[in-house]
Amino acid sequence: MAADGETIGLALVSVRASLLDSGAVSDGEEARAESEILLAHVLSINSGGLITSMTQPLPPEAAERLAGLLKRRLQREPLRYITGSCPFYGRDFAVDRRVLIPRQETELVVERALRWAGRHGAVRIADIGTGSGVLAITLALELDGAEVHAVDISPDALDVAAQNARRLGVAANIGFHEGDLADPLWGPFDIVVANLPYVLAGRMGEVEPELAPEVLAEPRLALDGGPDGLDLIGRFVPQLPGLLSDEAIALLEIDPPLVDGVRALVEEHMPAADMQIIDDLAGMARVAEITIGD
Ligand SMILES: C[S@@+](CC[C@H](N)C(=O)[O-])C[C@H]1O[C@@H](n2cnc3c(N)ncnc32)[C@H](O)[C@@H]1O
Repeated sequence: MAADGETIGLALVSVRASLLDSGAVSDGEEARAESEILLAHVLSINSGGLITSMTQPLPPEAAERLAGLLKRRLQREPLRYITGSCPFYGRDFAVDRRVLIPRQETELVVERALRWAGRHGAVRIADIGTGSGVLAITLALELDGAEVHAVDISPDALDVAAQNARRLGVAANIGFHEGDLADPLWGPFDIVVANLPYVLAGRMGEVEPELAPEVLAEPRLALDGGPDGLDLIGRFVPQLPGLLSDEAIALLEIDPPLVDGVRALVEEHMPAADMQIIDDLAGMARVAEITIGD
């Protein structure tokens, strides 16, 4: 690793090579991105600052910290737990092992909610399975005056979410509730978002290598959707009619194998609703968008 007097630019090259050689990342682009995040983190600078510091020497204390963090990463600890933060919709959220690391594709839920709110307005919003709070907090920040309620069954996750809400200045707009699905809430809501655990229990490692049982670092409670992926969503869809107002939208994050099951649930429990499947940037079915009214 970093030799004495090494420049920041050379340290970057060396971290990138270690990440690739160890197989901790699968391609050069990922290795470049992760090495920049690690270097910027130990130097407490942003990516712009990193670019202008390439020829400067890496301070010895930063080199020592970098070596420790790289060791953890080479032992397959997820990068976002190592740095303790994760970007989502242009803001940084604190994350640790108590919560799922927010995925970029979940931003699609925010985009669809804001699109609907732009046409209809939104007064009351519910986020079920809030985790680090990314959906509840982002919607509270993007939609002035909205009253947001966020639920999680994990008190640990709610601690992280409440801390994020305080740090991002929206604690007063969000009620955090511990409980099962929508049980702690009372409707009606205009927008309901839910990224509930949906990974098929037997296929966690196929979906992402980091989710294989032998290396899983994220809470299983946040991911495991049972044998068909529908344990949670299957219990939640029947709650939606009692939760939504006459003109409302529910946005459920899903995975392609769940499309038929979710469609059947909506047809059974919400026959008057319209449902569309929205693909993510990778062309995968990612969000079930269920609307009531116009
Ligand atoms: C996939 S994570 C989503 C976290 C966050 N909303 C995001 O998009 O990054 C699912 C969350 O649902 C929570 N959860 C699991 N079972 C639940 C239940 N029965 N009721 C409420 N929340 C639940 C987990 O604790 C976890 O925080």
